[in-house]
Amino acid sequence: MLSRIIRTSPLTPTARANSFRQFSTTRTNNMKVLSVLYNGFQAAKEEPRLLGTVENELGLRQFLENKGHEYIVTGDKEGDNSTFQKHIKDAEVLITTPFHPAYLTEDLIEKAKNLKLCVTAGVGSDHIDLNAAVKKNIEVLEVTGSNVVSVAEHVVMSILLLVRNFVPAHEMIERGEWQVSEVARNAFDLEGKVVGTIGAGRIGFRVLQRLKPFNCKELLYYDYTTLPEHAEKEVNAHRVEDLKEFVSQCDVVTVNCPLHEGTRGLVNKELLKHFKKGAWIVNTARGAICDKDAIAEAIKSGHINGYSGDVWNVQPAPRDHPWRTMKNPVGGGNGMVPHYSGTTLDAQLRYAEGVKSILDNYFNNKPQEPANIIIGKKGYETKAYGQRDVKS
Ligand code: NAI
Repeated sequence: MLSRIIRTSPLTPTARANSFRQFSTTRTNNMKVLSVLYNGFQAAKEEPRLLGTVENELGLRQFLENKGHEYIVTGDKEGDNSTFQKHIKDAEVLITTPFHPAYLTEDLIEKAKNLKLCVTAGVGSDHIDLNAAVKKNIEVLEVTGSNVVSVAEHVVMSILLLVRNFVPAHEMIERGEWQVSEVARNAFDLEGKVVGTIGAGRIGFRVLQRLKPFNCKELLYYDYTTLPEHAEKEVNAHRVEDLKEFVSQCDVVTVNCPLHEGTRGLVNKELLKHFKKGAWIVNTARGAICDKDAIAEAIKSGHINGYSGDVWNVQPAPRDHPWRTMKNPVGGGNGMVPHYSGTTLDAQLRYAEGVKSILDNYFNNKPQEPANIIIGKKGYETKAYGQRDVKS
């Protein structure tokens, strides 16, 4: 293509320079694409559908190399000497996953001189300093919707396992014991309880849909965006505008909003005082939305009867993270697991395909799916990462 431009066009020097520029934006080859994924080890060798692993590379190697791009895949993400930090300096495209987040801080963005596009394989791009990305005109896209059903199912499961005191009951069986009263003393029905979601977007709404048949006393939501009337009617949910008022009404609070300046530490010591005594919390959104120590304390005292989820303020969570082992006064109330609710094998296929489609659009200068754009060419395109008057 380059030779065709040069041979057939009698161009002025300026026009020729513009042609070169035009050529360079067709993005045909020689791009460095860096992917930071989680190590799958033996499981990834045995199960090729674990596409989100270092070993299985989101299934992108052939696709990228056939186009002449360099594809670096690593799970090594911490510290100055990590593969992530070494290659971010000249990568044009960064693919990351919330399950093993490569934290793209403002400092690293400063060093990433060639970076133009960040793609999140999944949903939730808070591991990227989004405000810094806006300043540097770096686009941030995610595969919106790819795992929202996976997470909503996990939320409903987690609500049930807390309310029914399932984990201690199962652990008792494993220990070879049988003492019904010990577990029944803290087991309840979900029917007749008030359940509320902080954030009623794709996941929050799907949670409400799935809860409807349980005949809860009330379904509530807290969100600065109101659900459309038909959606509210479908799930028979009511919006509560004040957060303290909202939590004080709920037996179960589930957190389903993104992590941003307005939600970091939202569920803290002060807000916990307004929760009903004995309430349950399920957080599959982001660990840092809930204050680590305040939650551990509230569980220990029994003010909060149980906490469950798969997201942690740092991932992987350190071995001594209090959420691994916290227990309520009767020895239950912990449903924590590693970050995997949104990475079922079904979800991995969807987000791997979604990443490929985003890359394909990028390479061919085709418009991206609007719902996938978190940061676009002119700043924030989404309304979900906080209320902003302007786009940046
Ligand atoms: P979404 O963008 O469809 O919905 C988010 C909702 O949260 C929006 O309605 C927004 O208005 C609301 N919101 C934002 N800030 C709020 C605030 N301060 N207070 C109340 N509501 C607020 O996003 P979606 O798909 O429902 O995902 C939500 C989050 O779930 C993601 O950002 C991600 O952090 C997390 N997630 C976790 C996964 C996992 O594997 N554990 C997988 C996928 C998503």
